[in-house]
Amino acid sequence: MTEARIRSERLWESFQTLGGIGELDDGAMMRVTGSEADREARDLVVSWFEDAGLTVRVDPVGNVVACRPGRTDAAPVLTGSHIDTVPRGGKFDGTAGVLTALEVVRAWNDAGVETERPVELVVFTEEEGTRFGTGLLGSLVATGVLPLEEALALTDDDGQSVGEVLADIGYRGEASLDLADAAAFVELHVEQGPTLERTDTTIGVVENIAGITHSRVTFTGEANHAGTASMRVRRDAFMGAAEFALELERRAREQAETTATVGTVGKVSVWPNGTNVVPGVVDLGVDVRDTDDEALDSVLTAVSERAAEIADERDLELEWESLLDVPATPMDEDVVDRLADACEALDLSYTRMPSGAGHDAMNVAAVAPTGMLFVPSRDGVSHSPEEYSSAADLADGARVLERTLRGLADE
Ligand code: HGY
Ligand code: MN
Ligand code: MN
Repeated sequence: MTEARIRSERLWESFQTLGGIGELDDGAMMRVTGSEADREARDLVVSWFEDAGLTVRVDPVGNVVACRPGRTDAAPVLTGSHIDTVPRGGKFDGTAGVLTALEVVRAWNDAGVETERPVELVVFTEEEGTRFGTGLLGSLVATGVLPLEEALALTDDDGQSVGEVLADIGYRGEASLDLADAAAFVELHVEQGPTLERTDTTIGVVENIAGITHSRVTFTGEANHAGTASMRVRRDAFMGAAEFALELERRAREQAETTATVGTVGKVSVWPNGTNVVPGVVDLGVDVRDTDDEALDSVLTAVSERAAEIADERDLELEWESLLDVPATPMDEDVVDRLADACEALDLSYTRMPSGAGHDAMNVAAVAPTGMLFVPSRDGVSHSPEEYSSAADLADGARVLERTLRGLADE
């Protein structure tokens, strides 16, 4: 088999260049769907794909697909991830899967490698859900879980829709992407946790991904004067939300004694948001996850029932909207074994492990054989400007990805 050489400095260079788009003064990343930074980053990555001889198409929800033809037109092997970020995120979450896939193609081109099957690189839209609230959006649409029209109609806090912002940046495409057509999908990602670094292991071979739910929980009371509204008559939406948030933490902590439950209130919007105004409406973004679906459901049921009691006790109205609900997802055993075999062939230390973070691979796994591999995150930190993975680890990850994709694409 022709040896393809992953070039670490070329790979690292691509991170530095892409990492400069949407970078804030202090190095934090702000690259949300449909923003000017998103357009610029997409255009850059598309230009790299085209320079590497790939044929690029864009689907109606903005997923970018770059195809490297094979000797046959058998079902393609897919790889990729996302380039959108959380607010004030890091430079490696998502981009690691896109840029290592690009480096694999560049190494194949250098070595004149041909594969039996086509290989396609995918950049999924709105993986984080930062702007429109529904994460994993691009892969939900490309696996038929979320109807396209519903996805395009989702609006941000200012009322702008997915369809509008994608059209604004020129990425509301017309091509098709049906992930069920894939022969396999492999996603490289930074671990976003401490396991690999703590055990001095180079590669994580993901066996399953924790189930993830996102909900919008809205408490509505009555805005009033902070000075003249006596404590007896208030219908304070924030205090109801605060009591709910503490209950979520208590329940998640209690259950986490025996399971991998995590519960977070990561987003809070207060209306009308004045220091001297009793809050009238509070919107919460609630994230609950577990590798065990029953455990996840039991926490979610318990806290949603308690939310209704709190609203009752405080004479508030409650709205609970489910934005995302993806069950815990096992990876494909054959792809998992191939990733492990590639690590052994490359003499790289590895461990089989779960993923606490959610990924587009969860949706793809429902329609095609899917696997994931991790590279270490320094201090286990992610969704932060402190997020960091080393050039050496990223290059080793690319080598494992190259070997695995090659094996899948040559069958
Ligand atoms: O939230 C997550 O787990 C992923 O980073 N979207
Ligand atoms: Mn993320
Ligand atoms: Mn990610």
